[in-house]
Amino acid sequence: MASSSKTYIVEHLDPELGAWSELEYLAIARESQDAGAKFCLSSLPPSFKVPDALNEIPAFKAETRGVEELYAADKSRVCLLDPAAASDLSPEDGDKFDAFLFGGILGDDPPRDRTSELRKKGFDGRRLGPVQMTTDTAVRVTRLVVQGKTPLKEISYLDHPELKFNEHESTEMPFRYVKGKDGEPIMPEDSPKRCMNLFFHITMDGVPPLFEIYPPLINTACPWATTIEDLRDLYKCPSTGAVTTRTSLIAGFDHDPARHQYAFFNSTLTSPVQNASLNSLGYSPLTLETYLGFIRTISADLPARSSKGFIVSVTGTPEDIAASYKLIASTAQDVRFPLAMEINLSCPNIPNRPPPAYSEQELSIYLTHLRQAVAQVTNRIPVGLKTPPYTYATQYQSLISALEAAVPDDDGGCGGNERGACPISFITATNTLGSCLLLSPPPPSSPDSHPASPVLPGSGLGGMAGAPLHPLSLGNVYTIRRMLDEKGDKKLGRHVRVVGVGGVSDAAGYKRMRAAGADVVGLATALGLRGLGVFRDIEGGLEEEEGGSSGW
Ligand SMILES: Cc1cc2nc3c(=O)[nH]c(=O)nc-3n(C[C@H](O)[C@H](O)[C@H](O)COP(=O)(O)O)c2cc1C
Repeated sequence: MASSSKTYIVEHLDPELGAWSELEYLAIARESQDAGAKFCLSSLPPSFKVPDALNEIPAFKAETRGVEELYAADKSRVCLLDPAAASDLSPEDGDKFDAFLFGGILGDDPPRDRTSELRKKGFDGRRLGPVQMTTDTAVRVTRLVVQGKTPLKEISYLDHPELKFNEHESTEMPFRYVKGKDGEPIMPEDSPKRCMNLFFHITMDGVPPLFEIYPPLINTACPWATTIEDLRDLYKCPSTGAVTTRTSLIAGFDHDPARHQYAFFNSTLTSPVQNASLNSLGYSPLTLETYLGFIRTISADLPARSSKGFIVSVTGTPEDIAASYKLIASTAQDVRFPLAMEINLSCPNIPNRPPPAYSEQELSIYLTHLRQAVAQVTNRIPVGLKTPPYTYATQYQSLISALEAAVPDDDGGCGGNERGACPISFITATNTLGSCLLLSPPPPSSPDSHPASPVLPGSGLGGMAGAPLHPLSLGNVYTIRRMLDEKGDKKLGRHVRVVGVGGVSDAAGYKRMRAAGADVVGLATALGLRGLGVFRDIEGGLEEEEGGSSGW
């Protein structure tokens, strides 16, 4: 039986405290005090300065120790509020747990996603529902459930309410709030007055929506994710945490089967066991609207909400990308799972159109259009960039410089160091390596001068993937993660996740990608070669190494 006194713990790993977080923490501390509960900020860096107003509230406690240490004797007393948990928080959880832990997302070395780290450490998890909440709302809802014994579903919420600053200015808040007795959303005191430009502050001090995927294994954009049947089967596969669609354009791609093809081969060119691919494909012949229709249909067939969602891969002009973002964000409001958008700027096979992600200038144009689109929607969705394999340092630097240039320099009227962050939530590295050639073996006893006979049509050149790409993709993931970590600030570094893809086909490849710094691992060629079984094999291989328990 749990103690009747409850403690709400927010892990705060950042040496700084933004103005918005301070307001949230004050609200949590005051409400905890009124409810006879405690509020603890844990894992505080030694340099962290606790505001006086917070220290004065008796229910509040500042802790430099992490929750693992605080509850070393009995982890089972702690409930982790986790969007990827298998069950929702219920009033009975008040009888089971003493402490409720909110993982937080920012922090220095090492955490980038504290919730997933804590999850791995075996804390029991519970969900608070599908709509993103501010930290004080999450604690409020938890308290209503575990102390007030109100089931989650019976709490009155206001989703994305409009907040009026004055007669002329208002903004729609991209979060779920608890509805107060006056019918208004409950928010920290003073919040509308403190900051007129709330958008970047409220999204976790400027961080765009987090890209959360569990298990951290996915398919990446490829021809085996083209039809609704492909997508349904991928969605049903229990060993993956999300499904990526094949890249589509708003108007569809003029696919010509005579020109756009792929072939499998063995990277040693001597073994019959295929482990690599070469393709001259462009994009899906189906339009983005068609994919969004598929996604709606798959959603409608679901019995309940699910945390497993879709990554919608798109490409086109910068204007197309802005329009795609709005379409996907709007669809995200109608479906029962999360959606993210991945911008494919890295296909090597489009004549006269070099992959834009090789050029800082082009990348910047895309990011500018994206930012404008993001500012026009009420529900932000995570956006990723699919990058080509980079082969030398200045190419990486171009990517990082373009991302940095996309950080808004507006301080939102609040002064201080709280500014917006780069609008990119993840980077998927890498796409295929262009300009590769696969030749058919010469007929036996042909002369040395036998002309080359490419396997693919036209020039025969195409994008290579699979085993021979693996070391290059590992190098890209490693370098991009390191460069982002070196930025190490709220604007760019920590919130940007990396999806590692290139030549993964087994548990060992998965582990190498993770070791190189991938938060999520993707694959395409191995799916084409082995079907969905490849995901189950990877999960099985990881379990085997862990002696039967989950190896993610
Ligand atoms: C036949 C084929 C078609 C692909 N089509 C796309 C695509 O439409 N969009 C995209 O972003 N990546 C595409 N890719 C790249 C993959 O998503 C992946 O980034 C790359 O193949 C490396 O992973 P792999 O070694 O596991 O195949 C394609 C790859 C293959 C093999």
